[in-house]
Amino acid sequence: MTDYVTVAQIQEVPSGQTRQVEVDGKSVLLVNLDGDYFAIDATCTHRGGPLAEGEINGEVVTCPWHRGGFNVRTGEAVALPTTTPVGTYPVRVTGSALEIDTTWANRRTVDRRQG
Ligand code: FES
Repeated sequence: MTDYVTVAQIQEVPSGQTRQVEVDGKSVLLVNLDGDYFAIDATCTHRGGPLAEGEINGEVVTCPWHRGGFNVRTGEAVALPTTTPVGTYPVRVTGSALEIDTTWANRRTVDRRQG
């Protein structure tokens, strides 16, 4: 069972940028990598740094507090001091809406539905 909810419009997340949204009491970071959209927990697993204030380099978002890094596709921790991955969420595009499935944390697929 899925539970997709609209969290933003695609024009609100330009290529190479991020946007933090709140869903079911959780802070989620939307990321646009050249038109592919990803969603990860917005809070760093090291000491709770705000990933929305971090830098995006390729597929990696870098935490602004201690420079830990996470792969936005997989949630994997890829740069110390972080070693614990962040949660990921399935993302789909429906028309101009970005939707994420809040029931499937840590499983990510992209389902592009235009229309
Ligand atoms: S809080 Fe993010 S690396 Fe320390």
